[in-house]
Amino acid sequence: MSDNTKILVTGGAGYIGSHVVKQLCDEGYEVVIIDNFSLGLRQNIDSRVSDVIEGDIRNEADLEKAFAHNVNAVFHFAAWKAAGESMEDPDKYAKNNICGTLNLLKYMLKFNVKNFVFSSSAAVYGNPQYLPIDEKHPTVPENYYGYTKLAIEENLKWYDKLKGIRYAALRYFNATGYDVKGRLNGREKNPANLSPIVMETAAGERAQMQVFGNDYDTPDGTCIRDYIHVSDLATAHVLALRYLNEKEESLVVNLGAEKGYSVLDVIKSAEKSSGRKVNYKIVGRREGDPGNLVASSALAFEKLGWKAQYSDVDTIFKSMKNVYLG
Ligand code: UFG
Repeated sequence: MSDNTKILVTGGAGYIGSHVVKQLCDEGYEVVIIDNFSLGLRQNIDSRVSDVIEGDIRNEADLEKAFAHNVNAVFHFAAWKAAGESMEDPDKYAKNNICGTLNLLKYMLKFNVKNFVFSSSAAVYGNPQYLPIDEKHPTVPENYYGYTKLAIEENLKWYDKLKGIRYAALRYFNATGYDVKGRLNGREKNPANLSPIVMETAAGERAQMQVFGNDYDTPDGTCIRDYIHVSDLATAHVLALRYLNEKEESLVVNLGAEKGYSVLDVIKSAEKSSGRKVNYKIVGRREGDPGNLVASSALAFEKLGWKAQYSDVDTIFKSMKNVYLG
């Protein structure tokens, strides 16, 4: 149950944000959303949310409106997340992911809000030097997007030390799936990730998809990733907030399922769950793709008592079936 924490969620209409908002509302928390609706969807906003501010974290007047709600924690999802695009347009990523977050921290201090739950990413690690990747793994991002997440984590250490901000930096591996209870149906716009592309292909909206490389050092030659169900991610956010409230110390943890699936495993599972054929073509490797990325989430279990429950590929694709195939 909730502990009377009133939460501001940035990007609360987005893919991960809307799932976390639903779980926060299920737990009885009061939620206020700020979203600029560049990618967020109104249809995915839970009806129990107390207010939705159409606004941008880069705009201080919008933040003033959001913080006027007397919130006492912030969950921050509003960010660009396409790694490839970040290499072509770093300025776009700097302004939103870095400057926007620093604005948000400024307003947290102004309104004396101390607890911050931050959407970080496994992209902070870069190419794996060993597997599974734990939180002690060196952080050498391979793309600018990963750098923006690391830059904020570094700033958070200082804001903790200098200003008493308590943060949970949650390093997601490959977020996927839709609400296991089937309550969220608005699809991500222009997806760049594997599982929505697989489902669009299953639905016949794409004639064929591409598999980027089958010459990696993995059993079937295609890349292995750690796919984590968004409903599992949502649970971890609620636990992270409780941790900050109870322990009053900051936290940096991986959120992964600790299990790797290849691109072809993913395609097969989607075919099985959907009963449709997924046409694909093997093409060359995508630049910057490591062959194998799997998390250790032992620390999340130790600190939060969290473990993935819904992150096997079959459960993931069952949860996507209705969203993509009706
Ligand atoms: N892939 C294809 N075809 C596609 C899309 C993807 O074969 O059309 C392959 C990729 O080559 C990769 C795998 O599917 O091997 C997963 O690719 P995604 O683009 O879905 O995800 P990434 O592993 O590249 O990155 C994702 C998020 C990042 C996050 C990272 C953390 O997009 O934001 O996981 O592990 F940082």
